[in-house]
Amino acid sequence: MKKTTTVSVFAASVASIFVLASCATVPDQPPALPQPTAAEVLEVMKASFADRGVAKLDRLDQTEIQRLCSQVNATGKPLDGASIERLQKAAMDAVKYPADGNFIGDWREGERVAQSGRGLQFSDAAGSVNGANCYACHQVGPTEISYGNQGPSLLGYGKNRGVKDPAAKESEAMVRYTWQRIYNTHAVNACSNMPRFGDAGILTEKQLKDVMALLLDPASPVNK
Ligand code: HEC
Repeated sequence: MKKTTTVSVFAASVASIFVLASCATVPDQPPALPQPTAAEVLEVMKASFADRGVAKLDRLDQTEIQRLCSQVNATGKPLDGASIERLQKAAMDAVKYPADGNFIGDWREGERVAQSGRGLQFSDAAGSVNGANCYACHQVGPTEISYGNQGPSLLGYGKNRGVKDPAAKESEAMVRYTWQRIYNTHAVNACSNMPRFGDAGILTEKQLKDVMALLLDPASPVNK
């Protein structure tokens, strides 16, 4: 009985919305509001934040790539091919490879780095160890059920790309690509949303190697 009443009240209010909507004159376009300039937006941002602990205001300073990609997001116009090529090349040229030529560390440590979302927050002590929070955006290992999906699943990453032995000559291209991706993803995709783990100094070289092992070591649970 109660249910019938609720349904009929709902139906009546839906009907009245249609009546109201057909009476009102709705303009095709809302009136255009004056848009703030990029400099005005930055001024408001700078006035709204303050240095706190390890989180400093210089985080508001965009790199050229961030500035151009933000414009793309705001205007919806794709970046032109020449700019993409120039920006990706500059990022690629600045990638630093492991000094000892060994790209693969310990996958167990890599799993810890991938799981940790700590570091670089105002409440973190200066010099504390950063995590990478890969799971915030990717599925990685088979046992973790809590992960984001902004990025593609990395489960089976090395196996699916045919890496049987990361030290073998035939794995070289895939190993280098994976390092470039993690070191500075803009080297591969100019307007990628992935953090620049090496370039921005988020992870140490050892941590980068450990995350590489998580993705590429055949013994890693990612490749089982
Ligand atoms: C803020 C979200 C985010 C985080 C955190 C993140 N990624 Fe990504 N990642 C992405 C997105 C989005 C893509 C794919 C699109 C693009 O950026 O090109 C991607 C792509 C990748 C790729 C390329 C995949 C392929 O099929 O070639 C790899 C490898 C990768 N991420 C590894 C990692 C690792 C390892 C970590 C942690 C150290 C990590 N990502 C952290 C968002 C993220």
